[in-house]
Amino acid sequence: MNSIPVVIFLGAPGAGKGTQAAYLSRAKGIPKISSGDMLRAAVHEDSPLGRRVHEIMKNGGLVDDETMLSLIKDRISKPDSSDGFILDGFPRNRHQAEELETVLPLHGRVIAINIQASEEEVVKRIAGRRNCPKCGHVYNVYFHPPADDEKCDLDGTTLFRRNDDSDLVVRKRIMTYKKETLPLIDYYKKKGVLKAINGVQPQDDVTHEVLAAVQ
Ligand code: AP5
Repeated sequence: MNSIPVVIFLGAPGAGKGTQAAYLSRAKGIPKISSGDMLRAAVHEDSPLGRRVHEIMKNGGLVDDETMLSLIKDRISKPDSSDGFILDGFPRNRHQAEELETVLPLHGRVIAINIQASEEEVVKRIAGRRNCPKCGHVYNVYFHPPADDEKCDLDGTTLFRRNDDSDLVVRKRIMTYKKETLPLIDYYKKKGVLKAINGVQPQDDVTHEVLAAVQ
């Protein structure tokens, strides 16, 4: 019987979770489920959920567990997740991790990948991050800039900076991460499913290690 891969990306804000989750999704043909992207889409659509979470996200706090669990449980029950899926940004605390276990596929094989990067590094990365609003591609003006400073290489759309990427909010997000999410590293280590990866190396090298970790 084949086991269904469930890959959980852990790491500080800006460590490279979203970047690596996107590569892995393409390489394995399984969906990347990003809680942050889902929330940002709701804010962009100005849906009732978006209106509710907008202020929390803007201030670097965590959205309540009940909302997040319902969002994620609903998403992983979709047919495209039946052969496995990649979680980027979820779980974010112990309660979310415990609840996730109750809905994992019966024959699932969980791998938690912790992308390690220093605080100094992630602050610099986030300061340089630019996003394409059309295709979602993520750039970095320091590490891999677009050919034209303000435009997406793929579709020419003007890039933007996330409104929770200001220096002040980034510091708050890092504090929230240390208090709420960092303990999950121990949680998954005790379960014997944690793989630690050095995130401070060229993206392709990080990807190489991620692919090796999920074999
Ligand atoms: P979320 O969107 O999950 O943000 P985050 O965890 O803070 O992570 P980031 O998206 O900032 O960073 P990343 O690690 O994905 O880095 P990236 O690959 O972009 O959450 C946002 C908010 O939503 C939260 O604050 C909270 O309010 C809410 N939320 C989300 N999930 C929740 C949950 N489960 N419960 C409650 N609330 C929730 O890379 C960063 C930059 O570095 C990019 O520019 C990239 O190009 C560059 N880069 C990547 N890798 C490298 C490399 N190897 N070398 C050089 N540069 C690199």
